[in-house]
Amino acid sequence: MSVVGFDFGNLQSKIAVARNRGIDVICNEVSNRTTPSLVSFGPKNRYLGEAAKTQEISNFKNTVGSLKRLICYAFQDSELHEVEKQYINAELVDEKGQVAVKVQYHGEQRVFTATQLVAMYFTKLKDITSAELKIPVSDVVISVPGWFTDAQRRRILDAAEVAGLNCLRLLNDTSAAALGYGITKTDLPEDKPRNVVFVDIGYSSYSVAIVSFLKGQLTVKSTAYDRHLGGRNFDQILIDHFTEVFKEKYKIDIKSNSKALFRLRTGVEKLKKVLSANAQAPINVESIMNDIDVSAILSRDEFEKLVEHLLERIEGPLEQAFKDSGLSLEDIHSVEVVGGSTRIPAVKERISKFFGQELKYTLNQDEAVARGCALQCAILSPVFKVREFNVQDIIPYPIKITWNKIPEIPDEDSELVVFPRSNNIPSTKILTFYRKEPFDIEAYYSEPDKIPSTGPWIENAKPPSNPPVKKVKKLVKKGDLPITSCHNGLDKSVITQFKELEVQMIVSDKLVADTETQKNALEEYVYDTRSKVETIYSEYVNPNVKDKFLQLLNDTESWLYDEGEDASKSVYVEKFDQLKTYGGPIAERYREAEERPKAEQSLRESIQSFILSASSGEERFSHIPEEEKKSIVEKATKMSEWLNEKLKAQESLPKYEPPAVLCREIYKEREESKNEPNTEEPKSEEPNFKESNIEEAKLEEVTMAEDTPTDVQNTDKTKSETKDIEVENGNGETIMAVD
Ligand SMILES: Nc1ncnc2c1ncn2[C@@H]1O[C@H](COP(=O)(O)OP(=O)(O)OP(=O)(O)O)[C@@H](O)[C@H]1O
Ligand SMILES: [Mg+2]
Repeated sequence: MSVVGFDFGNLQSKIAVARNRGIDVICNEVSNRTTPSLVSFGPKNRYLGEAAKTQEISNFKNTVGSLKRLICYAFQDSELHEVEKQYINAELVDEKGQVAVKVQYHGEQRVFTATQLVAMYFTKLKDITSAELKIPVSDVVISVPGWFTDAQRRRILDAAEVAGLNCLRLLNDTSAAALGYGITKTDLPEDKPRNVVFVDIGYSSYSVAIVSFLKGQLTVKSTAYDRHLGGRNFDQILIDHFTEVFKEKYKIDIKSNSKALFRLRTGVEKLKKVLSANAQAPINVESIMNDIDVSAILSRDEFEKLVEHLLERIEGPLEQAFKDSGLSLEDIHSVEVVGGSTRIPAVKERISKFFGQELKYTLNQDEAVARGCALQCAILSPVFKVREFNVQDIIPYPIKITWNKIPEIPDEDSELVVFPRSNNIPSTKILTFYRKEPFDIEAYYSEPDKIPSTGPWIENAKPPSNPPVKKVKKLVKKGDLPITSCHNGLDKSVITQFKELEVQMIVSDKLVADTETQKNALEEYVYDTRSKVETIYSEYVNPNVKDKFLQLLNDTESWLYDEGEDASKSVYVEKFDQLKTYGGPIAERYREAEERPKAEQSLRESIQSFILSASSGEERFSHIPEEEKKSIVEKATKMSEWLNEKLKAQESLPKYEPPAVLCREIYKEREESKNEPNTEEPKSEEPNFKESNIEEAKLEEVTMAEDTPTDVQNTDKTKSETKDIEVENGNGETIMAVD
C-alpha cells in the first residue's frame, strides 16, 4: 500500500513517500525533485510534466500550465480573465460553466476541462511514484492552499478520482508544513503552547498560519492569505521593466510577440534567482525575436525599488494572522518560512522585521509541504504505525445554513452562521429542528464577496417522505434522519466518463511510447550490428550472407529515414525480427566463442579435481571405496575425451558455422560431474550453473512472498505487522517520530 504526499504547486509539484523507515522526496524520470505542473498535447500523444516543459516553446498554444489556478475558477469569474489569462498560452473556453482549454490533440481540435487537465497531471505524478516505489499507487494526501473553498477542494478530489487516486485527505499547505515541523520535534511543551508562524510564498500565492504546538498536537490559531502574491508577480514587474529597456535599446516590442514574452519570462526568473544571492545579475536572451539577442544587467537595489509595492503587501497577511491569533509578539516562539519566493532577501527582511526576530529554516523550503502530506498519509494509513499527532485546522470562511420557515413556528429564524471564520475543523454543531415534513437545509459561505471564485456549497437534508412517527406527547422523530446530501462536485456519471477517456489516452500514450522505443531499438540495432559485422563479428558472418545482411541493414536505415519515420509498432517489430534472423546467429556464435575458453577451463578443473580425489592417498578421500575410485577415473577420462573431441571438431570448423559444441553443454557436463557424491569437496565456492537450481531459487522466492504479509494484505491497524517511520529533524538527526 502506497503512502504518498503530493505538493501540487502552481508552478511545480513535489512528491514525498514513506519508505525506508522515513519520508523521502522522490525524483522524476529526469532525476529532478520537482516536476513542472504542465500538460501538453501533440499530434500523437500527450506530454506531461518534464516532457511538456521540454517542448513548451515549440508547442506553445497546446501547452497548459497554472493548472492549480485553472481548476479554481468558474468560466465567468472575472479573475480568470483579468489575472490568470496572462499566464496561460492555450485558448480558454467555456465548457458548461467550467473552465476548459481548446487544444490540438491527435490532429483535431479538442476541449479539456480544468478537472481533466489536473487529472492528467495527477496520472503523471502517480506514474513517477509507482515507477520509484515499484508498486501501484493509490492512496495519497494532496496539498491545497488554505484559502480554497469547498467547491475548489471538490474539484481537486474529482481530478484525483479521475486519475485513479484515492485521496485520503486534502491538507492545507501551511498545515502540512506545520505537521512536518511538529512531528519531528521531540521537545514540544506539555502545557504552555509553542506558537510558530509558518509563511509560504510560492509561485502564485502567499499564505500565513500561526500554529500552536503541544506535545502530540497542533492547533492552527489563525490564517491569512494574499491569493495573488507570489514569484510570478515579481517576474511580471521585471518583464515590464525589461520590455521598456529593450524597446529603447533594441527597438523591439517584446509584448507584441507571445513567444518572445515567454523567453523573457524564463530569463527574468533566472535573473531574479541570481539576485537572491548576488548584488547584481545579468539577463541574456538569445534570439528573443526578429533574430535579436538581448542583454542587460540589474542590481538588487534596483530590483527592490521596482518591486517595492509588492514588498509592501507582505505585511498585510502577517498582520491579519497575528491579530486574529490574539497573541502578543512575545508569544511567538519562531517564524518558519517555506516556498520558493521566501528566498528573496527583501521578502525575508520584511517578514523578519514584522515579528522582530530572525527567521528559522528548520524545514526544507521546497519539500516541507510534500513531506507533511506524506506524513499525514502515513498517519491515515492502516499499515504504518506513526506516533499520534493530532491536527486541528481551521476554516477560512464563515459558513451559514439556511432553511425554510414553517407556519407553525412563525418567529423561527431561517438562517444561522454555524461555523464562524477560523472555526476549528473537524468540529460538530448540533441543531434541532421541529418538523413533520421533509425539509431542505442549505449551507453557504456567509460572506460570498470574500470567497475566491463562485461556487458556494450546498447540502440538502431530506427525511423519507413518510417517516415512521411515534405518537408521543410531542411529535418527535428520534434517531438518525436519512439524509440525501448533494454538493457541487462533478456528477458520478461525468467522473466515469472522464475516467474512461483518461484510460483511453493513457493507453494511446503508451502505444506511442512503445512504438518510439521499438523504433529506437531498431535504429540502434542497425548501427550497432553494422559496425560489428565489419569488426568483431567479421569472422562469424558467413561470407555467403554477409553482403545480403549488410544490404538489409543499409536498406533498413534508409527506410527509417523515409517511410519508416512514422510506422506502426508492429512494423518496427517485424523489421527487427527480420534483421535478427541474420544477426541473431552471428551474435550467438560470437558470444559462444568468447565464452568457450571459460567453459572449457571450468570443466577441465572439475575433471582434474575428480582425478585427484580418486587417485590421491589423502585422508579426506579415504572413505571412497577402491572400486568406486576406479569408476570415477574412468568417468573423468571419458569426460576429458568428450571435451577434446568436441573442441577438436570445433577447431576444424570455420567460425561462421554453427558451433560443434555449446558452452551450456560443457557446463552441463561439469555439473553432472559434481553429482558424484563421494568426490565432493567439503566446500565449494564455485558458481553453480545447474539450471534446476535456478528454478528452485525462484520458487523459494515466490513461496516466501506468499507467506510474508504484504502491506496490501494487512489493512488492520491493530495488527502487529506495522511499520515504523523515523523522521529526521532539521539538523539531520534521526528522530524516532514513530513508535
Ligand atoms: N532563489 C530564489 N530566489 C527568488 N525566487 C525564487 C528562488 N527559488 C525559487 N524562486 C521562486 O519560487 C517560485 C516557486 O516556488 P514554489 O515551488 O514554492 O511554488 P509552487 O508551490 O509551485 O506555487 P504555489 O505554492 O503558488 O502553488 C517561483 O516563482 C520561483 O521563481
Ligand atoms: Mg506551493
